[in-house]
Amino acid sequence: MILVTGGAGFIGSNFVLDWLAGSDEPVLNLDKLTYAGNLNNLVSLEGDARHVFVQGDICDGAAVLALLNEHRPRAILHFAAESHVDRSIHGPGEFINTNINGTFALLEAARSYWSALDADAKAAFRFLHVSTDEVYGSLGPHDAPFSETTAYAPNSPYSASKAASDHLVRAYHHTYGMPTLTTNCSNNYGPYHFPEKLIPLIIANALAGKALPIYGDGMQVRDWLFVSDHCAAIRKVLADGTPGEVYNVGGWNEMANLHVVHTLCDMLDRAAPKQGSYRDQIRYVTDRPGHDRRYAIDAGKLERELGWKPAETFESGIAKTVQWYLSNQAWVADVQSGAYQSWVQRNYANREEGK
Ligand code: NAD
Ligand code: DAU
Repeated sequence: MILVTGGAGFIGSNFVLDWLAGSDEPVLNLDKLTYAGNLNNLVSLEGDARHVFVQGDICDGAAVLALLNEHRPRAILHFAAESHVDRSIHGPGEFINTNINGTFALLEAARSYWSALDADAKAAFRFLHVSTDEVYGSLGPHDAPFSETTAYAPNSPYSASKAASDHLVRAYHHTYGMPTLTTNCSNNYGPYHFPEKLIPLIIANALAGKALPIYGDGMQVRDWLFVSDHCAAIRKVLADGTPGEVYNVGGWNEMANLHVVHTLCDMLDRAAPKQGSYRDQIRYVTDRPGHDRRYAIDAGKLERELGWKPAETFESGIAKTVQWYLSNQAWVADVQSGAYQSWVQRNYANREEGK
């Protein structure tokens, strides 16, 4: 069995679904079910004995240790986090709590469990920490992409909290010899992406006839990766990665936000035509404070050493994504009910419109 934390979130649920589509090894899924966790993502696993869901908090070390001792997983895949940069700007406290203290509590529980394993199980055990390219800071237009040796320079409370968690994971390998692995990945997109993030927000707002908010000039660059490619990379690192190592994961797919939004509008113009173009709904709004200008990942180590590279191009991945959102509008409506509306009010109400 493997333990997945945060397996009801965007990437975690994709990971659990993909894992069980390709393997009968059971998954123990530990998730607090914050606003971002959604059991509807996993509805296809209802009644499937290979999926054991436990609602719980990674900050509760005693409860995590009890779960480990009860289920005896051979690996922990740690996805659970507060993940939205804008939310970390409005309220960093939960990010410090879950991303730093929670990772620490999880590591301590893992160390206690791992230390008591027999020699073979101890050597085979893995703690895989899922992290982000944002820990490396922001690139200039001509800088080389982030590699595994790029110095850390996190700029938001979110990325600073993820950087801290990366350092803790590193220390647990270095100090205690725990077999950890860390992946730092670029921007994901695909099914079950919560519509507070750029791509699903734009699709949902476009179809609802709402404004499509572009922060600043829209020329910030992100390196987009289809979520199932990220999941495949994690499986590869779990299987073949060297303990103590870090692997960058990316799509070789740098794109300015405005280009992404134009692409989505043009696709929706074809798939769900309306009078005029969805581009007419674009609005430039006040920029995100401290907004990182450019991220780009050099995923060469993962390809050279473990033979992973993305299967999807941006064109194929975004086509699947738009189609998924068109076919799953009930899922979107469900996650947009309740607390979602107060977040939208909080994040967008005081952003003045620009050009
Ligand atoms: P998400 O916000 O969609 O999901 C996070 C999940 O963690 C939710 O199900 C939530 O309920 C759960 N969770 C939060 N706090 C918890 C706690 N204290 N205990 C247990 N569960 C808790 O996030 P995501 O986009 O799926 O990201 C998953 C991981 O991947 C994060 O660690 C994130 O930093 C990292 N990452 C994300 C991206 C991206 O583009 N989304 C890119 C690179 C890395
Ligand atoms: O790089 C990996 C990171 O990617 C992950 O670690 C984070 O968990 C994930 O949320 C994502 O962070 P970003 O801040 O890059 O993603 P987001 O979708 O919030 O924003 C993408 C870009 O779009 C960013 O430059 C901000 C911009 N944006 C975003 C929103 C929500 C807008 O212009 N308008 C918007 O309304």
